[in-house]
Amino acid sequence: MEHFRASNGTVEMELESMRPWRFIIILCVSACVHEAPQEAQIPFASQASPLIVEPTESGILEIELEASQLENSPNRLLKYGFNQMSPGPVLLAPVGTELRATLVNQLEMPTTLHWHGAGAPNTMDGTPRVQDPVLPGETFQYEFTLSNPGTFWYHPHFDTARQVDLGLYGMVIVYEPSEPQPDERLVLVFDSAAENQPREMIDDHRHIDGHGMHWLINGSTKDTFEVSSGAVVRAHLLNASNAGYLHLNSEGMRVIAHDQGYQGTVHDGPLVLGPGDRAEVEWLPGADPILVDHRPFSLNGGVTYMPEETLFSLVPLGDAPAASPSAMPVSTPEYKDYWTTKSADFTYVFHGDSRTNSWMLNGESFPDVTPFRTNVGREVIIEVRNLSSTNHPFHTHGHPFKVVSRNGNPVDPRNLHDTIDVAIFETMRLVVNTYNPGEWMVHCHILPHAYAGMMTYMIVE
Ligand code: C2O
Ligand code: CU
Repeated sequence: MEHFRASNGTVEMELESMRPWRFIIILCVSACVHEAPQEAQIPFASQASPLIVEPTESGILEIELEASQLENSPNRLLKYGFNQMSPGPVLLAPVGTELRATLVNQLEMPTTLHWHGAGAPNTMDGTPRVQDPVLPGETFQYEFTLSNPGTFWYHPHFDTARQVDLGLYGMVIVYEPSEPQPDERLVLVFDSAAENQPREMIDDHRHIDGHGMHWLINGSTKDTFEVSSGAVVRAHLLNASNAGYLHLNSEGMRVIAHDQGYQGTVHDGPLVLGPGDRAEVEWLPGADPILVDHRPFSLNGGVTYMPEETLFSLVPLGDAPAASPSAMPVSTPEYKDYWTTKSADFTYVFHGDSRTNSWMLNGESFPDVTPFRTNVGREVIIEVRNLSSTNHPFHTHGHPFKVVSRNGNPVDPRNLHDTIDVAIFETMRLVVNTYNPGEWMVHCHILPHAYAGMMTYMIVE
């Protein structure tokens, strides 16, 4: 219990700046006036506002997401997007909103949408286990209630490594209106352009390592964001990279939430975000710019020898003094000793080898796997043991989990995750409350690892 330390995650940023977003925002403002959102508009920081879509007064968020090739690709790595944007539109909604998203497939290949972290029911989970891929020219309507707060994302779950790498992803923000709200929100979606990798690796869309990487923020190389001085700024970070890790820090950075919204605990940076991971960070700009540093981080062993560099900065408009931190209600951790002492209900052991690119869970490679079966309404203890020589961002579909111990030592169990970085030779215990029946994928979110076999599924019945 004394080792409480919030766990890490990974984030990538998206910037709208070199894209048609500004233009689209204006268009939307005039086109959508008759559908004023129900909640008071939460202002987005001025230069970080991609297209934001909110629910109408009826509490329904309806959107058509057209997957297609980008007509004006800003760089050679992002080739596809939703509604001609990569990242796609940000969906912003209070808890309880009904989401109706129609996927329109204008690609030349089949695709699906997975709602990473958002707690969709099994039939809406977008994996080939639960739905037929949506063929070119076809549509599919995803419909479910956004019942948990958090920073989530949507991305294809078919030919995933390639389709995500080519730019098919977007953020979903679900907020709890009864909590203190920020003055401004900032969306930062990070993706890595592995320009230092051999050409074949780039063309193959399987970027392998985290160092020497160049990061795009919101699809762009623009790295300054305007915020208002004196504002409480909440940044939603997503690492949409296939394989790159982020290690971020800045003065006064407060990590308010990991993947699954605020859970009664706040901690200071640094923040590690592996592929697929998200976090919510609070910054309190005064008159001076806030520089956010990145330490090059390798999945082969953490922070590398290379110097820390500024990845992006927040430039305040105005010279008001910094606001005080938002008064988030703090909860008391409740720890059950049997979480660390009892034997685990199921164990996932990670094996693999970067040289042969073979990656396995429990010695099995997807699709030849033995699923873990359990029942609805149980509290399940899962142990993950990384016996391989790289980190792995472990991701479970359908159910979030608490991390209750690392290497046998209890840790603060308050945060909820659906994606967690498991370091080399680390053993971690996770507690999952099964409420969502179905067949759920469980995999490493380094997409080339998942693609090579580090993927299985769990059956909740
Ligand atoms: Cu974001 Cu199964 O993935
Ligand atoms: Cu992995």
